Amino acid sequence: MPDSTPKAGPRPPSSILVTGAAGNLGREVVTRLQAHGGHVRSLVRRPIGPRAGVESVVGDLTDPAVVREALVGVDAVFLIWPLLDPAPAHDLVVELTAAGPRVVYLSTTAIDDGTARQSDPIAQVHMDMEGLLHEAGLHPVVLRSDTLASNTRGWAPQLLAGDVVSGLDIARTAVVDERDVADAAATVLLARHDRLDPALHALTGPEVLSRADQVAHLGAALGRPLRFQALPADLARSKMLADGRPEPLVDALIAASVRRPESNRVTDHVERLTGRPAGAFAKWALDHVADFG
Ligand SMILES: NC(=O)c1ccc[n+]([C@@H]2O[C@H](COP(=O)([O-])OP(=O)(O)OC[C@H]3O[C@@H](n4cnc5c(N)ncnc54)[C@H](OP(=O)(O)O)[C@@H]3O)[C@@H](O)[C@H]2O)c1
Repeated sequence: MPDSTPKAGPRPPSSILVTGAAGNLGREVVTRLQAHGGHVRSLVRRPIGPRAGVESVVGDLTDPAVVREALVGVDAVFLIWPLLDPAPAHDLVVELTAAGPRVVYLSTTAIDDGTARQSDPIAQVHMDMEGLLHEAGLHPVVLRSDTLASNTRGWAPQLLAGDVVSGLDIARTAVVDERDVADAAATVLLARHDRLDPALHALTGPEVLSRADQVAHLGAALGRPLRFQALPADLARSKMLADGRPEPLVDALIAASVRRPESNRVTDHVERLTGRPAGAFAKWALDHVADFG
């Protein structure tokens, strides 16, 4: 007799596609899915070294042929949208609708649900993406992530040169460890149910931090008297352009810095999904001392 008792907990699905798999978050998601022994396919723009049990499709998310190839035989997709324009996602949505996998979309807690027009352009892109996925009937599970702790790796070159991190300031927010977001994503991707209720989760860290707070935590971890120096928008703009960042991204970051409202929201959604509380940024800093030279 087959055992018809419902089984609790995750199952290894036959195939999960991870987009942005070479990125800070995507590679953590891949590691967790690998550990469950399912078949993992990554979509990357450049070939990455071989990883056991991980197949790669190399190409761009905006190329329908690449997306079609990446979706063959896939049950679930971890979807990021790293572009500043949602328009090219229409083709992606067509491919997702044809292939029919479960979609787990990585969005942002910066979205203000009280308005259709977001003052922060990055939040607007994610709101538009959520809308596109819903309107297409894809019933996405949406993980809205707070600012990832891994963003601070961008300060490493400055910290190699001295004890000051200078840059754009941005509203305080409950910075979340990308490993917690990856754990939450893996839990949802491996879930037994076709549709999860609730289908919207706001993943935050345990405390609201400014950039100066984050630099101070890094200083404590590194044993150095680090400080943050906020730059006015025009200076920060020239610095980011001189660092080689694309102009549209620089403009979006400046707009986010000026317009993103402070968020004091701390949720327990990481714990609800993973069974353990979100980690503190101070712990992230201690675990990543080696990343800062
Ligand atoms: N960082 C945050 O605080 C935060 C907060 C909320 C939501 N999010 C969302 O989470 C996503 C992942 O964050 P992250 O910190 O892991 O970003 P990340 O480290 O910059 O990784 C993004 C990845 O996307 C890839 N990518 C960029 N454009 C692509 C394209 N056109 N086609 C295919 N792949 C492309 C990049 O490829 P290459 O390696 O080739 O550059 C990179 O590996 C973000 O894009 C954002 O939408 C981020």
